[in-house]
Amino acid sequence: MTLLDAARAVRENAYVPYSNFKVGAALRDASGAVFTGCNVENVAYPEGTCAEAGAIAAMCAAGAREIAELVVVADSPMPVTPCGGCRQKIAEFAGPDVVVTMATMDGEARTMRVADLLPGAFGAAHMDRS
Ligand code: THU
Repeated sequence: MTLLDAARAVRENAYVPYSNFKVGAALRDASGAVFTGCNVENVAYPEGTCAEAGAIAAMCAAGAREIAELVVVADSPMPVTPCGGCRQKIAEFAGPDVVVTMATMDGEARTMRVADLLPGAFGAAHMDRS
């Protein structure tokens, strides 16, 4: 199964009563293991938890810490891009050259490097004097 197939499959489990916008994400870690996530909304915070954050949480819960590749998919008119918060979360666990693929359900896809998704990212080096 490709990462795109895994993202499309987990997207079906999205819990989206407020937006009705299902998103699926799948990542491969440095060891080759695949982790998936879907968006999960709630009444108090209708934006809920993004699919990418879910996949990252699953990776961390398994003890892994390094994203090698990530795919996100939604039924959107153009490839869905990770929100700002997710860009920071992805940058926490992925090097600048890691490729993020953004896809639609009808097969359109676009890829971007992590460094291009979050230029000028805040990082641990900024705290070197602290
Ligand atoms: N969403 C994601 O899961 N990932 C993205 O990259 C963009 C947005 C979700 C959050 C919320 O459940 C819904 O899409 C609308 O914002």
